[in-house]
Amino acid sequence: MRLTISVIKADVGSIGGHTKPSSRMMAAVEGGVAKAICNGLLIDGFVCHTGDDIAIIMTHTRGEGHPEIHQFAWQTFLAATSVAKTSGLYGAGQDLLADAPSGNIRGAGPGVAELSFDHNLSAPRPAESFMVFAADKCGPGAYNLPLYLAFADPMYCAGLMLPPMIKGFRFHVIDMDHTGGDSVIELEAPADSYQIAALLRDNERFGIDRIVSQTYGEVAAAVSAQRLHAIAGKYTGKDDPVAIIRNQGIFPAPEEIVSPFAKAHFVGGDARGSHVMPLMPVPLNTPVTGMYCLPIVSCAGFSIDREGRFSESYTDFFDNPAWDEVRRRAQSKAIEMRSQGWSGAAMLPYSELEYGGFRDTVSALLKRFRLREERKPEAAE
Ligand code: 13P
Ligand code: 13P
Ligand code: MG
Ligand code: MG
Ligand code: MG
Ligand code: MG
Repeated sequence: MRLTISVIKADVGSIGGHTKPSSRMMAAVEGGVAKAICNGLLIDGFVCHTGDDIAIIMTHTRGEGHPEIHQFAWQTFLAATSVAKTSGLYGAGQDLLADAPSGNIRGAGPGVAELSFDHNLSAPRPAESFMVFAADKCGPGAYNLPLYLAFADPMYCAGLMLPPMIKGFRFHVIDMDHTGGDSVIELEAPADSYQIAALLRDNERFGIDRIVSQTYGEVAAAVSAQRLHAIAGKYTGKDDPVAIIRNQGIFPAPEEIVSPFAKAHFVGGDARGSHVMPLMPVPLNTPVTGMYCLPIVSCAGFSIDREGRFSESYTDFFDNPAWDEVRRRAQSKAIEMRSQGWSGAAMLPYSELEYGGFRDTVSALLKRFRLREERKPEAAE
């Protein structure tokens, strides 16, 4: 069967500030998913949250970008929004930026990552396992560096030297500044790896859209790469991307995929989406409550049976003592960076900040600048 995994996530309200959705909101989404499984729209579904973002992870046979799947997610997030409104929660409906979009909801606010493959549990995929990353309080290119390292650098993924992966992977990189349709370039690692790095270094403009095996043509990864402020025209919250990564066999193993996250690399995000702060790996369903408003990322692992259902449970990759060390390091990097306050590299460049209220503050000041009157030369003796 041709199976599609769709992950659609949105921030539609949170309790006690921008921390986490309420349990009633979660129950509303879980109820919606259970119904959609019952009526045959979905084969399976799983709901979790990372900070204040709810992710719906689904398998189905409708294909990518299918109106029924997208509308189901939109309606489910609307139901959670109305729970959030009734309870007086913060930011109710925040990521639902369009009025009743018809069909596909990509570009309407929620983060969407989807990939499809022939699922018959035979070579080259005798077993199908995948991971879902969900990040909160961070910019759209948060996965650029870790996914580049996992899929293009044998220092991180020694598996790249093995026959199934030695021809490398094709990176589809999207220009998130482009409006009016997706603008994408396809580059091949390792041949084009410096060109890929030249684009991916700019986390705010260029993002990985998908990664495909050169040998098998199988899609390895799909990422929701979009800039919310490009949709809303103003700052309405951070982009908080999600990613689906298939693993094992012809793809990197889970440890090769998560190990770059041990860097706790700096990304744009944090408080008011305006700082440059380390990305901290956390267990599923972690609220954002620490000092600052640290960018966080969770990672859930699943297997899929012959019918397209998830295994009876999931693996929570960052819920392991090994990551405590990384979390401590992320926190100390954060303290270090925040000790610099607003100065220079500690905050995002003005081009990013201009979508928020900082623009108004600076614009008002710009109006008050005056050309200095030329100093009169000293009277000649
Ligand atoms: P196991 O023997 O536990 O399956 O480990 C295999 C492996 O190759 C780890 O990457
Ligand atoms: P969210 O996108 O998670 O709501 O984050 C917004 C923000 O500005 C954090 O301060
Ligand atoms: Mg929020
Ligand atoms: Mg969020
Ligand atoms: Mg957000
Ligand atoms: Mg094993």
